[in-house]
Amino acid sequence: MSLEPFANEPVLELRRAAARAKLTTAMEKLELPLRVPVWIGDERREGEELVSTDPSAPERIVALAASATAEEAGAAVAAARAAFGGWAATPAADRAAALLRAAAWMRERRAALAALAVRECAKPWPEADADVCEAIDFLEFYARGAIELAAGAPLLQVPGERNELHYAPRGVCAVIAPWNFPLAIPMGMTAAALATGNTVVLKPAEQAPGCGLRVVEALRAGGVPAGAIALLPGGGDAGAALASHPDVATIAFTGSGAVGLELLRTAADVAPGARQLTRVVAEMGGKNCVIVDSDADLDEAIPAIIESAFAYAGQKCSAASRVLVHEAIHDAFAERLAGAVAGLQVGPADDFATDVPPVVEREAQERVRRYAQLAAEEGAVVTGTPADAGAGWYCTPVVATGLPADSAVLRDEIFGPLLAIETVRSVDEACDRIDALPVALTGGLFSRNPRTVQRVVARSPVGNLYVNRATTGAMVGRQPFGGNRLSGTGTKAGGHDYLLHFVEPRVVTENTVRHGLVV
Ligand SMILES: NC(=O)c1ccc[n+]([C@@H]2O[C@H](COP(=O)([O-])OP(=O)(O)OC[C@H]3O[C@@H](n4cnc5c(N)ncnc54)[C@H](O)[C@@H]3O)[C@@H](O)[C@H]2O)c1
Repeated sequence: MSLEPFANEPVLELRRAAARAKLTTAMEKLELPLRVPVWIGDERREGEELVSTDPSAPERIVALAASATAEEAGAAVAAARAAFGGWAATPAADRAAALLRAAAWMRERRAALAALAVRECAKPWPEADADVCEAIDFLEFYARGAIELAAGAPLLQVPGERNELHYAPRGVCAVIAPWNFPLAIPMGMTAAALATGNTVVLKPAEQAPGCGLRVVEALRAGGVPAGAIALLPGGGDAGAALASHPDVATIAFTGSGAVGLELLRTAADVAPGARQLTRVVAEMGGKNCVIVDSDADLDEAIPAIIESAFAYAGQKCSAASRVLVHEAIHDAFAERLAGAVAGLQVGPADDFATDVPPVVEREAQERVRRYAQLAAEEGAVVTGTPADAGAGWYCTPVVATGLPADSAVLRDEIFGPLLAIETVRSVDEACDRIDALPVALTGGLFSRNPRTVQRVVARSPVGNLYVNRATTGAMVGRQPFGGNRLSGTGTKAGGHDYLLHFVEPRVVTENTVRHGLVV
């Protein structure tokens, strides 16, 4: 199969009225609530144990989902195990073709898929559109990568010996996904596992079962056999039951650090009779810092930092949550940032004018408000403009200053529209503070001095460092994404090495001296 080189799916130009009209028409046609089954092979069990609602208008039910029991988790793994041999033996090019057809299925429905992400997770339109594009990108990128990987890797050959290395799929992969990229992240992990010949049980986040259903529909419509991809909606208990099943060979997880660490412990506990070590691919949270040096161009830095901290209400794992500003420009920076925050429009996700949508659920709203309160007690806060009275899970954007070094606001991942500003005497002091953190996901630097840039690049522990731009918006193939330290297992989604985590290398060495080669 010869394919065009990979290119990112272009996002919509939402400044064009026609593009916006396509999306609003799709929204009008969206029939809710969706019914999301436990879907194992051709068996569907519908239920209403899980209710997913619209964070912008919580009385609107987006999806009614069954919640998988431990028995269903077991049945899903058993079905995936039974289908493994057939899917693993399917040529890589055929598996890739199924993924490419799934990408085409999503492309045809991209406005409707974006509308669903707006409703279910309060992604504003540009973010929702980018989420669909990223899901398509993962399918296209991993399809190509799996074909390349199927060729194996070259080895040193010497006379009288033939050496071959090929990559075999590992078995059943449990994919456990978060809600904040409700299409892209579950699709990315699932597509990587399937492309390399594994079978998958997908447990979408409890806040986004409707999007999880669309992921599985796309793959099955593309021709992935029913046995090779199961849908297991449910909460953390369903995820735990799935991950602890002894026949799960790989756990691909994206979510919070606490759950990721629990899954690493689960995997390390080898069940009696287990025939394989469970591998964990874990992408977790961070505490992302941006350094602003005294020579930074504030016309560039302020909008980029606003985008990094407040787009999607700060609910991206890559979102900026601390800015470390050189003391020489601190006051000017803080004043301009406060002005920019005051101009942010807080509102429903389906309003094209919205900058900051509501957070995903009531608990998230309470958590963000708790940290905002703490910031006000320990330091000083400047707040943006609150949302017009509405029932959604809105949080007013907050900028905090003057916090003590041991403040929880500077340590914890808050995952909301709250940004802390700190003063530093030098870029090196900023680097020291960043180096003291146990997490290392993304980071940013604004500086006009190439030597400063080099120094920070050399010292920065983060998985993705962004220089003179926003810290969010990693693109498949361009910015392979993932954290270091306690932020993740060091895998890079959307990068060339990612597929290696879903395979095991096998080497065959044949002595050809005595017999020669019979061809
Ligand atoms: N590094 C990355 O690439 C990346 C990307 C997106 C989100 N994140 C992180 O994800 C978090 C937000 O997502 P979230 O709130 O959905 O995270 P979460 O950890 O609460 O949930 C993630 C998934 O794990 C499941 N789960 C919960 N408890 C479980 C258990 N005991 N066993 C197995 N599964 C369990 C959930 O049901 C959900 O499907 C943030 O910390 C964010 O930084 C990281």
